[in-house]
Amino acid sequence: MNDIDTSELSWDEWDELQRPTAEETGFDAVVEGALSRRGFLSGALAFGSGAAVMGTASLLGSTAEAATSRIAFKPLPIQTDFTVHVPEGYSWKPVAKWGQPLFSGLDDLDHATGGSFETSDKVFGENTDGMEAFFVGGHQLIAVNHEYVNPKINLPNNEGGVPTSAQDVRKLQNLQGVTVMEVSEGDNGWDIVKDSPFTRRIHQNTPMKISGPAAGHDLLKTDADPAGIEVLGTMNNCGGGKTPWGTYLTCEENFNGYFGSTDQDVTLPEDFGRYGIKTESRYAYEKFDARYDLAKTPNEPYRFGYIVEIDPADPTSTPIKHTALGRFKHENAACVLAPDGRVVVYLGDDERGEFLYKYVSDGVYTPGGDTSDLLVEGQLYVAKFNEDGKGQWIALTPETTGMGKPEISIMTRVAASKVGATTMDRPEWVAVNPVSVEAYCALTNNKNRGLKTNAGGDDTPVGGPNPREANKYGQIVRWYPEDENHASDGFTWDLYVMAGNPKVGEGLNKGSENVNEGNLFNSPDGMQFDSTGILWIQTDGDDDNEGAFEGMGNNQMLAGDPVTGQIERFLTGPNGSEVTGLTWSADKRTMFVGIQHPSAPFPDGEGKLARSTVIAVKRDDNAVIG
Ligand code: FEO
Ligand code: CA
Ligand code: CA
Ligand code: CA
Repeated sequence: MNDIDTSELSWDEWDELQRPTAEETGFDAVVEGALSRRGFLSGALAFGSGAAVMGTASLLGSTAEAATSRIAFKPLPIQTDFTVHVPEGYSWKPVAKWGQPLFSGLDDLDHATGGSFETSDKVFGENTDGMEAFFVGGHQLIAVNHEYVNPKINLPNNEGGVPTSAQDVRKLQNLQGVTVMEVSEGDNGWDIVKDSPFTRRIHQNTPMKISGPAAGHDLLKTDADPAGIEVLGTMNNCGGGKTPWGTYLTCEENFNGYFGSTDQDVTLPEDFGRYGIKTESRYAYEKFDARYDLAKTPNEPYRFGYIVEIDPADPTSTPIKHTALGRFKHENAACVLAPDGRVVVYLGDDERGEFLYKYVSDGVYTPGGDTSDLLVEGQLYVAKFNEDGKGQWIALTPETTGMGKPEISIMTRVAASKVGATTMDRPEWVAVNPVSVEAYCALTNNKNRGLKTNAGGDDTPVGGPNPREANKYGQIVRWYPEDENHASDGFTWDLYVMAGNPKVGEGLNKGSENVNEGNLFNSPDGMQFDSTGILWIQTDGDDDNEGAFEGMGNNQMLAGDPVTGQIERFLTGPNGSEVTGLTWSADKRTMFVGIQHPSAPFPDGEGKLARSTVIAVKRDDNAVIG
C-alpha cells in the first residue's frame, strides 16, 4: 500500500484498484434490446408496471405538484462550500464529532496528534455512518456506526498516515465499530451525556458471539477460537437497522480491505477473490496484528461480513454476529414484520453487480416474547427482477444451490450466483415505507454495468432495474410484495427515480421525469422513511460540480414523496463529505444526520482536522419534523 497513496481514495476507488479486469459482455446489443423492450424513449421514461401502479400523476415533477405538496420546506439550492445548509426556518448544530469524549475528565480532540491511543476507545469514533435512536427508560440513546478510518488525519504525524506500531493499529481499530451514546437536549441544544450508564464503545477487539448455520464451522475456526463461535470485533460498519424488539443491527461492509499478508506468496482460497480479499491490505494492520495477516490467520476473513446485533439497553450484553443473514458487504438491514408476525429483513450487498437479499424468520415476533432465535433460524432469499415488472425472491437452500447450509451462510455471493439472481447496480440502503406495503433500495451507481461481469463472472446486462450502461448517477428501485406481505415470494417493481442530469445529459442520462434542474443529485445511498411516509434520501456521489455532475453541488439529503414522485433538496453537506445516517429523537422534533469524511475546515475551523460529525437539525419553531 506504500506505492500508491490509497489513503485519499474512497472505498469505491480503492476497490476498483483491487479489481481484476473482467470480460466484455457485448453491451451495445444488450442496451438496444433493453430500450426497445422497456420503451425507454429519448429521455421520456416509461416505468414498466410502475407507471400503472403509481398512477398517471406519479412522476409529474415538483412544479406541478407544488399546490398539494406534502414537502413543507422551501427547497435548498445546491451548495459548494465547506459547511452544512438547511432550509429557511431550520437550523443545525453538531452533537458528536470524531474524538469527542464520551466520559468526563477527557479533553476534546487534540488536533496536533489526532487524539491519544489511550483515549481512543473512550471517544466518539471516526466516519459516522448508519444510526438508530432508542428511547430506554426515559433516556435518549443513539447507536452510531463508525464505518472506517482516515489514517492521514487519525495519525497525522505518521507519514501518509501509515501505522508504524501495534499501538497505532490498535488506535485505528478503536476508532471503528459502534458508539452507543446517550444524548440530551438543553438550552444550547443536544449534547452527549458523559458517563451515562448506557455509554459503550464497541470496536475491533470487542468479544462477540457467532450464531446461526456457520457457527462452529471449520472455516470459522482459528487458533484463538478453536470452536469457531467467538470473534473479536466488528468493522466497516456501514448502515444499520432496528429490530421490532429494540436492538440495533450494524452491518459489516468492506471488511476485505483490512486483511493482508506478510507473505505475498501465500496461496489464498478461490472464494477470497469473490470477496476482494488480497494479500495487499489498505491499512497495514497485518504487519502488527497477526489476526489480520492471511499468512498467519487465514480463516479470520470468514468471521467478518455479517449482520451484528447489539442491545443498546444493556451495556454488558455480548453482540451477536448472525450468520443466517449471510456474509457479504452488508449495507444496511431494514426490518419489517409480515402480517403473521415473521420478521423480514431486507439486505443489500454493496458491490458492483452483486445482489439484493431478504431474510425471513421461521418464528414469529410477539411483543415481550422470546426473540433469541428470530435472527438465527430463518430463510435467506435473493432477488430476481424480470423485465415484465415482476420479480421473485429465490430461496438459498441446499436444494437450489447445491451447497450446505453453513456454506450458504459463509459464501452467500457464490450461492446467489448459482440461482441466477439479478446483478444489481450496487445495492445500498433499503427503506421500508411504514404507511404503505412497499420497500425501496438505492442503487448508487455502477460504472461496470453492461461492461464487466461481477467478481463471480456473472454478466451484468443492461435492463430491468439497472437500465443504464456505465451507470454514473444511480437510481432507486421499489417493490410491492405480493399479497401485501413482505414475506411473499413474489413482487412487482418499478423505479421510483432515476437520477440524472437534464442540463447536460442525453437520453437516459437526463434522469426520470421527477428529476429537474432544481433537485439534481447523484449516487443515492442512505435512505430512511419518516413516520409520515416521506422518504429521506442521502447521497454519496461525485461532488466536483463539473461535467456530467454540473449543477449537483455537494452531497445532500433530499425528501421524496412516494405517491407523487416529488423530490426536493433539504440539506447540503460540506464539500468532500458524504451525508449518511439519519434518525429522529423520540419526540420527532429533531433529526440526527451524519456528515461523514468532510474536508477541513468542517466543523472546527481553519487549521483544525476535519471531523466526521453527527448534527441535530430542528425547525426554529420546534415543530415535529418527521
Ligand atoms: Fe458504506 Fe455502501 O456504503
Ligand atoms: Ca452507504
Ligand atoms: Ca456509497
Ligand atoms: Ca461512506
